[in-house]
Amino acid sequence: MDHKKLEKNIAAMGIAIAIVISIAGLVELIPLMFQSEVTEPLEGVAPYPALQLAGRDVYISEGCYTCHSQQIRPFRSETERYGHYSVAGEFVYDRPFQFGSKRTGPDLARVGGLYTDEWHRLHLVNPRDLVPESNMPGYPWLEDRELDGEKIAMRMRRLRALGDPYTDEQIAAAPAELEGKSEMDALIAYLQGLGLAFPRGRY
Ligand code: HEC
Repeated sequence: MDHKKLEKNIAAMGIAIAIVISIAGLVELIPLMFQSEVTEPLEGVAPYPALQLAGRDVYISEGCYTCHSQQIRPFRSETERYGHYSVAGEFVYDRPFQFGSKRTGPDLARVGGLYTDEWHRLHLVNPRDLVPESNMPGYPWLEDRELDGEKIAMRMRRLRALGDPYTDEQIAAAPAELEGKSEMDALIAYLQGLGLAFPRGRY
């Protein structure tokens, strides 16, 4: 088919455009799949422990990502405020990523260890008790909600099927680890584990 005919046949043109774009996409994507710095975890990065994994679910279901990103860009203005820029090897066990694109609040990629657990608890119940000008909503109900240990054990098994190296012992211990803990405890554990591959303030 010569080019003139192709341009006049919208269906053929559509297919041709799809083929060209797919090739361009594959050329960008396939090399990344074989780059170890993108697919291998950084030293010290492990799959989320049961309580943090449960907290990650709370983070997603409460929509924290609608106001908070978890991705520090490699610019001085960002690294001075938030710490070392984010690198791919920190996120290999994040399914799905919580990079986000909206920063009504600060980036949380390296918030782990920045505050005490008690600070987070007070802040999550009513942010204005600690930061008077804050427009973050409070989440007081998280303290009253229990966690489902069996559900998290099942999630760990599914993640293992996707390649996360959870051991049988870790999965078997999950329900006991969550026993008596609230969604608040889990969310705080998750926040305290964020970004520890490059702890804030040491770079
Ligand atoms: C409507 C937007 C909004 C939502 C939704 C939101 N936040 Fe925030 N968050 C903010 C703002 C604004 C600040 C800065 C003021 C403050 O510290 O309260 C903040 C601050 C924080 C901080 C302190 C960060 C730092 O570096 O000082 C943490 C931790 C945090 N939020 C966690 C959460 C979690 C967890 C959720 C979900 C349960 C959440 N936020 C939901 C807007 C939001």
